[in-house]
Amino acid sequence: MIASTNVTDRYGRRIDYLRISLTDMCNLRCVYCMPEDMRFRPSEDLLQDDEVLHLVRLFAEMGFRKFRLTGGEPLIRENVTGIVEGIVRTPGVEAVALTTNGVLLKHLSRPLQKAGLQRVNVSIDTLDPLRFRKMTRWGNLEDVLAGLDAARQAGLGIKINAVVVRNYNDRADVVDLARLTIENPWQVRFIEVMPFGSVADFQRSHIVSESELRQTISEALGPLTLLDDGRLDGEACMYRIEGAKGSLGFISSVTKPFCAACNRARLTPDGKLRLCLLKDRELDVLSLLRTGVSDRTIQASISEAIWHKPWGHELARDDFPRHRVMSEIGG
Ligand code: 5AD
Ligand code: SF4
Repeated sequence: MIASTNVTDRYGRRIDYLRISLTDMCNLRCVYCMPEDMRFRPSEDLLQDDEVLHLVRLFAEMGFRKFRLTGGEPLIRENVTGIVEGIVRTPGVEAVALTTNGVLLKHLSRPLQKAGLQRVNVSIDTLDPLRFRKMTRWGNLEDVLAGLDAARQAGLGIKINAVVVRNYNDRADVVDLARLTIENPWQVRFIEVMPFGSVADFQRSHIVSESELRQTISEALGPLTLLDDGRLDGEACMYRIEGAKGSLGFISSVTKPFCAACNRARLTPDGKLRLCLLKDRELDVLSLLRTGVSDRTIQASISEAIWHKPWGHELARDDFPRHRVMSEIGG
């Protein structure tokens, strides 16, 4: 085992947050995420359970402290609770969270909480059942709301993520979601849609900017107060509706990039280390692992890749990732 070190990139950013995508598959087909006839990778190409835990140990030894499981939909992965438990038990790991569409939370919230999971981010783009179906193509809002309730009862921390898509959920839906924060101590976060691969044309023509969203919300629910002097909570700029128990977050990767404060790296479902969500450069960690090289060699390659983490995205120059859509990277 090597001594715990801090990993930094050549710009001095400390990278200590790893997002691991457990599968590229999903039980929904959100219009802004993937085509309806999406094809998925064969399971032998994916990181196996022991490989996930092996890599978590290597990253934790290198100073990574926070881990998030994503997908596709991480809850359709067999043994997701076992994987959570293994990560929680890894020395050095401080925080384990999961991003889900919530469809399977009704039954999995309790086992996940028992396994040591602390928080879930649940994706809900609208509270209108028909529009929810239209956006997810296959989803039932009722299942997700039941999942949300189960997560609350299990004592999991909850954040709600909504991707805002022009002409789908950019008006009343956004206001209804924001209204949830008045009575609930939740963070509801609005995400600008980002362009990826084959869905990029749709994504770019349906983006709604943060400033427009804030205006829509404040016209309906009153003025929004900026929190923490605008310091980001993760990637979200935080606001509060007057008198509300919860808060609103705006994740505006496109119109207000937060690359300077980025502390994250990603493992794709097929075991590639991706240094920037919006740049295609990757390190094939799974192949390294399967050729049986030493842990030290793998860690040296990871450090080197992190050192060369791209400064940030260049969406403004029309440079967007072409090789994968979001579900193949991990949200
Ligand atoms: N742009 C922004 N967010 C996206 N998500 C999926 N695709 C995109 C996109 N193109 C979101 C999901 C979920 C998280 C994993 O990423 O809605 O909240
Ligand atoms: Fe599935 Fe999330 Fe993509 Fe929707 S956004 S299809 S829930 S991975």
